[in-house]
Amino acid sequence: MIKDLNKRFSQIAGHMKRSAIRELLKLTQQPDIISFAGGLPSPDSFPIEDLKTIMVKVLQEEGPQSLQYGTTEGDIRLRELLIKRYRKEGLHLSMDNLVISTASQQGLDLISRIFINPGDVVICGSPSYLGGLSAFSAYGARIIGIPFDKEGMRADELHSVLSELKEEKITPRFIYMIPDFQNPAGITATETRRREILELAHTFDVLILEDSPYREVRFEGDPQPMMQTLDPSGQVITLGTFSKIFVPGFRIGWVVAHKDIVEKFVMAKQTADLCTPTFLQKVAAEYLASGHFEKNLKKIVDSYREKRDLMIEGFREYMPEGVTWTEPEGGLFLFMTLPSWMNAEKLLRKALIHKVAFVAGNVFFSDNGGKNTIRINFSYASKEENKEGVIRLAEVIREEMKENNTL
Ligand SMILES: Cc1ncc(COP(=O)(O)O)c(C=O)c1O
Repeated sequence: MIKDLNKRFSQIAGHMKRSAIRELLKLTQQPDIISFAGGLPSPDSFPIEDLKTIMVKVLQEEGPQSLQYGTTEGDIRLRELLIKRYRKEGLHLSMDNLVISTASQQGLDLISRIFINPGDVVICGSPSYLGGLSAFSAYGARIIGIPFDKEGMRADELHSVLSELKEEKITPRFIYMIPDFQNPAGITATETRRREILELAHTFDVLILEDSPYREVRFEGDPQPMMQTLDPSGQVITLGTFSKIFVPGFRIGWVVAHKDIVEKFVMAKQTADLCTPTFLQKVAAEYLASGHFEKNLKKIVDSYREKRDLMIEGFREYMPEGVTWTEPEGGLFLFMTLPSWMNAEKLLRKALIHKVAFVAGNVFFSDNGGKNTIRINFSYASKEENKEGVIRLAEVIREEMKENNTL
């Protein structure tokens, strides 16, 4: 074994940390733990029978091409179908505006690669998606977090941060937003807030990275326009993915952006993986074209709505006074705030003994905040497990309160 291995790793490797969530996911694999921890879709939503038929069809009709290398930009039919779907969002894209990625995590990585130099500032929500924060930090970004109110990322805070940075002659590389059912907070930005943020992005000349894996998992209420729809001029880069609306295991996502950004992204992707698996793209395209996709998506939305309702009902019944939670109109998560003195990481250790898991919210904050918050996923566990898990979680919180004489 080579000596002093750590000295030989690159600076980028030095910035990489193991994901707290991935580590936690290992725990969720223990059969007796009820896990609200990961962001996993429900296994019941996977259309296994339909996919068997479609896979055979693709192999019969396009066998050799489907097993061959594909273009870096992605399967043409799949891109055309995605572009067509975006029309209902009021977006009229050309093929130059959309590239397939190996799910949106690759989008986050390669967008970071093409935009971030070590020390550059990236603006994120506080809290924000850990996988995004890790990707930006890996390239040496300095992350500045902007808090939320119930209308989304706070525009007044964003304005003051951008103004301060301007005084220091710093232009952030981009503002990272998850406008729909934000992971982890479950908040959706209102149209007014989206417009305010876009205006700031123009005034301060900053790109917006719109990451929206949950947009189509809406249970109720009106969809708010995409950032890209509000500003198709090139200011916004949008990441999309099939992970939460079809299957995560295919690892298929896409990037919608100005053609010059797409071109650079394609160059970066060529050094990353040459192309996203051809066969899976063709299967996904056939699944979309056959109409199965929309039907299955409706099934997913109905099932998650039911699970969210059940969970909120359980919280109302069992949670002690002093615990609050968001009630998202869609997505996979809700965010719980515990009494301010309570430490969620400590609570998690107890919860694991009671065989229930969640993610301590502090991992989503770039500034060590959120120590009394937790993220709860309601899509993965079955309805019965959700009910039981809520009872266990409430019990652990009550115990903690009793120990601190606050119950
Ligand atoms: C906000 C956000 N972006 C990106 C991802 C990564 O998704 P994938 O790479 O599966 O498309 C996730 C996964 O949970 C997410 O929540």
